[in-house]
Amino acid sequence: MTDATPVDESVPAEPSATPEEVSERVNNRSQRPVSEAFKAFITSRWAPRPDLGVEASTASEYTPARRAGLSARFPGARLVVPAGSLKVRSNDTDYRFRPHSAFAHLTGLGTDEEPDAVLVLHPTASGEGDPDGDGHGTDHHAVLYVRPLAARDTEEFYADSRYGEFWVGARPSLDDVTTLTGIEARHVDELRDALAKDVGEDGVRLLVVTGADESVETLVEAIRTEAGVEQVEDEEATDEQLVEAASELRLVKDEQEIAQLREAVARTIEGFEQVVGSLSRAVAHRRGERVIETTFDAHARLEGNAVGYETIAAAGEHATTLHWTTNDGVVRHGEMVLVDAGVEVDSLYTADITRTLPVDGEFTEVQRRVYTAVLDAADAAFAVARPGTKFRDIHAAAMEVIAARLEEWGLLPDGVTAEVSLSAEGQQHRRWMVHGTSHHLGLDVHDCAQARRELYLDGVLEPGMVFTIEPGLYFKADDLAVPEEYRGMGVRIEDDVLVTADGNENLSAALPRRPEDIEAWMARLRG
Ligand code: GLY
Ligand code: MN
Ligand code: MN
Repeated sequence: MTDATPVDESVPAEPSATPEEVSERVNNRSQRPVSEAFKAFITSRWAPRPDLGVEASTASEYTPARRAGLSARFPGARLVVPAGSLKVRSNDTDYRFRPHSAFAHLTGLGTDEEPDAVLVLHPTASGEGDPDGDGHGTDHHAVLYVRPLAARDTEEFYADSRYGEFWVGARPSLDDVTTLTGIEARHVDELRDALAKDVGEDGVRLLVVTGADESVETLVEAIRTEAGVEQVEDEEATDEQLVEAASELRLVKDEQEIAQLREAVARTIEGFEQVVGSLSRAVAHRRGERVIETTFDAHARLEGNAVGYETIAAAGEHATTLHWTTNDGVVRHGEMVLVDAGVEVDSLYTADITRTLPVDGEFTEVQRRVYTAVLDAADAAFAVARPGTKFRDIHAAAMEVIAARLEEWGLLPDGVTAEVSLSAEGQQHRRWMVHGTSHHLGLDVHDCAQARRELYLDGVLEPGMVFTIEPGLYFKADDLAVPEEYRGMGVRIEDDVLVTADGNENLSAALPRRPEDIEAWMARLRG
C-alpha cells in the first residue's frame, strides 16, 4: 500500500509552527509537495477525459417499480436512502466500499458504487402524475446526490487519498450516473438544502433509512431540530417504518433480481468445484481450511464482486461451530469438511450454499447416516415450499424428520419421543440444530431481515420469494448425550430456493446433494 500523499523529496514539506495534536498525526509520514510550481504542473497538461461509454443498466428498467412501491407507503414524506460512507479498517485505511442494500435495490448500483451518495425520493404535489416520466405515476421524484468526479485543477484530484482520482480512480460524472441509473443526479453539496426544503410541523416529513450512514442521520436530525419537528415513536411514519418497508419491498424478487441470483448461484457452484480440486492441497497444508477458503474466495473475486459473507470452511469438529470463519484448522483424511460459501455478483446479489463433503471422496457409514438424515429433512422442507405455505412451516417440516431420526437413533432423552420433542414444551432435538431452516436471500445473505414478523416468519409464501433450505445436525466432540461414533461431526446441506407459481425451483440443484451424487461428482473432478 502506498503512502497517503505524493512523495517529492526535493520539496520540503512546510514546517509546522506548533507540534501537531496526536489525532492530527495520521499523515505524519507525509511529504506532500506544497510549492505553487508543483500544483501548477500536476494540474495541467492532461488530455480530455475519454467518453466512458456508460449505458443504462439493466436494473434501471426495474428500479422505478421498486421506488414506486416505497413511494406508495409514504405519501407526502421525503425519503432518504443513503449508500453509506467509507468505513475505516484501521488508521487511514478503509474497507472496500459496499453500498447499503436498500440503496442498491432502489438505484440498481452495485460493486463499490458510490460512497457518500444519497438517494432521495422527494414528494411531489399529488396529481402531478408521473414526475419521473418513467411510466410509474408516483407522488415522488427521485434524485441521486453524489460526489462527482473532481476537476483536474483541484487538490482533490491528486492529493486526496480517500476520494482523489490519483488515489482511488475516476468517479463517474453526474451525467454518467444519470445515464446508468435513469435517475436525476445532483452534487452531494446540494443535499442539505434539498433535504431541508419545506420541512416543518405542517410541511414535509423527513424520513431516513437508518443504519447506513451516520452523517446523513445526523444531518436529518439537525434539520428536524431546526424545523422544530422531532421524530416521535407514535407518528404514523417513522424512520423505523421506512427501514421496515425497504426490507419488505424485497420479499418478492422481480425478474432482474432472480436473474442475478441465478448468476450468483452459477458462480458459486463453480467455486465449489474448485474447492473439490483443492482438497488434496488442503490435506497437505497445516492450515488446510485456509486452502479451501482462499480457493473459493479467489473465484468469488475473479468472477463476482466478492463473497457475500465470510466463507465457512470447517473440517471435522469445526463444522459444529455454526459460523466457523477462522478457518485455520487442518483438513484430515477420513473426516468431512463443511463449506458454506456464496459468490456475490457485481449487482450485489449473493448465493448462500453449503455442502458437507467427505475429504477423501467417500462417506463412511456413520457419516452417510447423519448426512442422509439431514438430506431427508431438506427434502421434506422442499416438499412443502409452495405458494400458500407459511414460511415457518418449512422449518416445521424439516424438524419432523430430524426429531424422528434422533428418536430412531436413541439420542433423545429417556421418555422423550419425537412427538414430545416437537412440542413447544419439548424441543430437545434442537440441541443438535440450534439454527433455523430458512432465511430469505437476496442482496443481503439474510435478506429482508427488518420485515415484520407477520410477513416473514408468519408470512405466506408467494411466487418470486427466494430463501434457503438449510437443515443440519451438529454433534460436538464433547457431547456426552450422543454415542462416541457421532461425536465431532457436523453436517449442513443448504440450497437456494425460488418459489414458483405451483411449487419451487431449487436454484442450486446443479450442485450434487445426494451422497452417491457427491461421491461421483468428486471422483470426476479429481480425475
Ligand atoms: N452462511 C450463513 C447462513 O447460512 O445463513
Ligand atoms: Mn444461509
Ligand atoms: Mn450459508
